[in-house]
Amino acid sequence: MRRIFIFVFMCLTMSVVTLAGNVKLTSPDGSLTVTVGEDGGRAWYQVNRGNELIISRSELGFVLKDGDLKGNFKMGKVTRSSLDETWSQPWGEDALVRNHYNEMKVRLQEKQGMKRYLDVVFRAYNDGVAFRYEYPRQRGLDEFVIMDEVTQFALPTDAMAWSIPALTPYYEGIYTCEPVSQKGNMAGPVALEVNDSLCMAIMDANLTDYSTMNFSHEGTVLKADLVPWKNGDKVRVWATRVSPWRAIIIGRTAADLLLSRMALNLNEPCKIQDTSWIKPTKYVGIWWALQKQRWTWSQGPRHGATTENTKRYIDFAARHGMGGVLVEGWNYGWDTDWTRHGDGFSFTRAYPDYDLSGLCRYAAERGVRIIAHNETGGAAQNYEDQMEDAFSLYESLGINTVKTGYVNSHFYNGELQHSQWGVRHFRKVIETAARHHLMIVNHEGAMPSGIQRTWPNLIATESMRGQEYNAFDRHGGNPPYHECILPFTRGLGGPMDFTPGIMEYSNDSVPGTRPQTTLAHQLAEYVVIYSPGHMAADQIENYEHQPAFKFIEEVPTDWQRTLVPHAAMGKYVTCVRQERGTDNWYVGSVTDATARDLDLSLDFLDQGTRYEAIIYEDGPGADYRDNPYPMTIRRMAVDRGSTLRLHLAPGGGVAIQILAK
Ligand code: NOJ
Ligand code: CA
Repeated sequence: MRRIFIFVFMCLTMSVVTLAGNVKLTSPDGSLTVTVGEDGGRAWYQVNRGNELIISRSELGFVLKDGDLKGNFKMGKVTRSSLDETWSQPWGEDALVRNHYNEMKVRLQEKQGMKRYLDVVFRAYNDGVAFRYEYPRQRGLDEFVIMDEVTQFALPTDAMAWSIPALTPYYEGIYTCEPVSQKGNMAGPVALEVNDSLCMAIMDANLTDYSTMNFSHEGTVLKADLVPWKNGDKVRVWATRVSPWRAIIIGRTAADLLLSRMALNLNEPCKIQDTSWIKPTKYVGIWWALQKQRWTWSQGPRHGATTENTKRYIDFAARHGMGGVLVEGWNYGWDTDWTRHGDGFSFTRAYPDYDLSGLCRYAAERGVRIIAHNETGGAAQNYEDQMEDAFSLYESLGINTVKTGYVNSHFYNGELQHSQWGVRHFRKVIETAARHHLMIVNHEGAMPSGIQRTWPNLIATESMRGQEYNAFDRHGGNPPYHECILPFTRGLGGPMDFTPGIMEYSNDSVPGTRPQTTLAHQLAEYVVIYSPGHMAADQIENYEHQPAFKFIEEVPTDWQRTLVPHAAMGKYVTCVRQERGTDNWYVGSVTDATARDLDLSLDFLDQGTRYEAIIYEDGPGADYRDNPYPMTIRRMAVDRGSTLRLHLAPGGGVAIQILAK
């Protein structure tokens, strides 16, 4: 990948602390300070913003299968370095990302017994702090098993926390907000509203060969709660000798969380040399009718993935500039209760009424690619066994994207999805796919942790409650505030395959269940929710003759720059994004059940350029409860001096194109 170094500064210094000494690390702008110390053998860190204590003394260390690695430490050598670089992404919310931090590596050495040691590497950015453990190979710490990570995140006061419960199946839960002290165990990222000028998010970054970090807590002291292997081991430290980063994003406003690129910066640079084949695109698919039980994945009279249906979808995609067609239910394995018999899935054998190679050719002739669907039913080993053959086949057929799925909370041999076994599996899929020039859209996957920097063929992940619940949820669908909290929590780790764009709300299979949003809100999701490869999720019939579809056709998925002018977690959010390589801008704004009027200054536009704004907004009487469809489309000339008043109905939204003239 092409990397642009605008300015790189790297320095290394080493110092040794005395037994009683604490060591400090400050962010490049001097605003954040991490202090690391040792007290009675217990190693701790704390974080300050100026004089304000943000994280009070929090313990570091581990319980191992053979002997604790905590409570018996003295501090050893301290090594410092700094970096200031700017790197470019093959796709993303910003084309260029600045990675600017000061780093301090602190050795923690056992005072008695085996005298083992580990290193803790701290980084202070202007927008947060992070640390990770390194386990140098040594006697007594060669291959070992972590039974518990004692890492704490002690909040000095109670804070409101947005989170889903730990071990929510596939993270498909509804985010709720309560004081930390009243929460149960939480999955990350946890977003915290601490006071009027402090918002934070705590999460894994670069989750590699390790188990996922959930959080338990005592009062306001959060603690790492790692997802175990079946036998209770938390992490088997064999080949990979570092933990994921424990990242604490720190901002004055909720918008600062969305603008932070810390999670990406904490991941390694791209490992794919030539990324020219990674070209995410919008897609349609044989999908929504399956969710609504109009069609079936399995064979029979209502089989969705037929050659004829797929051709219709390819023709539609070609007509409307969608580069991909997702096809689910094309392969053998769906005819039994596949959630329990995932071993029956074949990833190479197509059903007789689906002409796999013919359809790939038909699509290619029209400039469209088939997106292959690989549901595993959680039988991940069955998938690994076939993966090489399947991916070779797809590559030879010109398929460039695979959507994977794991509907089963357990994997091979009863291991949990988000355990180290699961995390390793998901990575194996991404790396194998990269060798075969395949992009991955991962459903029921690991919690994203910024690894798309390293593996940009992972273009999107679900790991959230997506639009699909608006088809089959027994409680009516996702709450109207859902998309007002996703960007601040799940979205911090990476692109979301939310599948926006539903325009027809009837539902025969679960009457009354539908998007709890207005139509304009569905359009705004394309800008507010970030993915480089959004789906136009509805059945294609529902897009024909629908003026709102023009926005979906034209909205890009790759951005030069992102701004967040309005943000209140769980209430409303406005994102403004510049299309990559042009002077066109797009605005998406969504609200919860409350109607709002928000003023948007267009002062981000170029001085001296004239623009036309095409505004898709909630029409008269629009209300997600009983009148979701009214939408007004209007055009007006705007420039850098303009201010637009955005009117959002209850559950509503607004989507705007601003085109340079
Ligand atoms: C759940 C996925 O999220 C959905 O997109 C897919 O259609 C079904 N599993 C079947 O694989
Ligand atoms: Ca799902």
